[in-house]
Amino acid sequence: MQKAGPKYPKVAGFELIEQVGGGGFSTVFKAVHFEDHRLAACKVIYLTAATTDKDRKSVEKEMRIHSALKHDNILEFINAVIVELKHGDKYFPGFYMLLEFAGGGDLFDKIAPDVGIDDDLAHLYFNQLVAGMKYIHQEGVCHRDLKPENLLLDAAGQLKITDFGLSSVFKLKESGKTRQLTERCGSLPYVAPELNYERPYDAEPVDVWGVGVILFTLLVGNTPWDEPTAKSPEFRSYVEGTIFTYDPWKRIGGDAMSLLRGMLTINPKERMTLDDVMSHPWCMRPSQLAHMSPFDLAGRLTQNLRDQGDLDTAAPKLHGSIDEDGDTIMGTAGASQFTQRLLLFSQTQGGTRYMPHLTRFYARLAPTVLMPILKEALDGLPQGVKTKFAGSTVVYLDDENVEGPRRYRETMRLRVGAFDNRKLVCKGWVEVESYMRDDVEYSFVLMRRDEGNPMSWRSLYRALLSSKLIHPHVLWK
Ligand SMILES: Nc1ncnc2c1ncn2[C@@H]1O[C@H](COP(=O)(O)OP(=O)(O)O)[C@@H](O)[C@H]1O
Ligand SMILES: [Mg+2]
Repeated sequence: MQKAGPKYPKVAGFELIEQVGGGGFSTVFKAVHFEDHRLAACKVIYLTAATTDKDRKSVEKEMRIHSALKHDNILEFINAVIVELKHGDKYFPGFYMLLEFAGGGDLFDKIAPDVGIDDDLAHLYFNQLVAGMKYIHQEGVCHRDLKPENLLLDAAGQLKITDFGLSSVFKLKESGKTRQLTERCGSLPYVAPELNYERPYDAEPVDVWGVGVILFTLLVGNTPWDEPTAKSPEFRSYVEGTIFTYDPWKRIGGDAMSLLRGMLTINPKERMTLDDVMSHPWCMRPSQLAHMSPFDLAGRLTQNLRDQGDLDTAAPKLHGSIDEDGDTIMGTAGASQFTQRLLLFSQTQGGTRYMPHLTRFYARLAPTVLMPILKEALDGLPQGVKTKFAGSTVVYLDDENVEGPRRYRETMRLRVGAFDNRKLVCKGWVEVESYMRDDVEYSFVLMRRDEGNPMSWRSLYRALLSSKLIHPHVLWK
């Protein structure tokens, strides 16, 4: 008999089911506890012979810091296991971090590029972000990697800060003694200007700057500059004070503007502190949305996307839709087969699913026919896209220990990489599954980002849909 290769370990009773994301160094899976019917996420950082002591220490630090932080606006760290290299014949060696599952996806996945979200919603999420950051700093920790990809939403639409991979302890809680930091890190559009110099820097102001860039992005749907240096014309113009009469700055209201400029103050010593931020009139004003249900909030959150034509309805149609010839192409039965995939798995307590996956569509062609066309269309896009066929994968949808034929799903995959207009890399998968209806084979296409800015990924999706090669075959999005 053939020897079975390594597999993924169970983590506190949870089995790793399918990949839902990843970053520069990690792969994130959805994890299911079959007996308890519980869902979680598992962030895996693989261990190889090339893993240095320094790499190990850095992951251990991430786990130590993240597991100590408990707050409504911080993604919960549930448990962790480490599989050492010597057990590599049984399990894939690595660090396995079991985290609360963020069923609402990325916050920034719901923001219309170059439009942003409405002021009241920005206010709501911004206050949650600040509450989480205030707590993190109180615990003596500096995040240092605040950016859209690291702000997630749970199923009830609550903001959750995650990814403590670049965080550092700057204050001893007992004595209150602080230290400066020296490591240069973070992603250029979000990084504070003082990190361009060799000098050590104060920890807290660096996060305040990141929070400021995020507020700007919430309000207008883009970062203010590529990098906070003289290389960026926008940043130069900001420093000179000439940018404020131009779009998008001129769209920002007075209160929000004074808050933004307070957080984006070049000199870290003069920059607003989180306490200043919390007592600023823009933050202090009562929330207009406090009474809204998660369902209504989600609808509101995606309003601008609908206005931009990125989204047809806030709640996806589950009960069929009519194509151009008047035929019903998706009945209830067909839909239920796909609901798991189609929707952003967000489930409110009442059981209503409310956030559709934004980058997906149905096509009139079967997967085998569609795949090469997809590749050609993507390769032809101006974003400098690179694609590679990645074969097909089979995902089992049930526990391997249950007897009888197992339920599975086959997916053809295309690996996609691109550069966004910020010259930052954006990567993900285009996944194609077969969808049968009245003996005709259609395709269900899901574009799943695993690295880079969610808004850039959606621009790529939009460009693909409107491309000459793909547009004629789109059935429903
Ligand atoms: N708990 C989670 N639930 C759902 N998706 C997640 C979760 N954690 C991470 N992700 C997804 O995986 C991505 C990478 O996770 P992250 O912790 O930021 O890893 P990295 O350190 O590699 O950037 C996130 O940007 C997000 O899209
Ligand atoms: Mg990350």
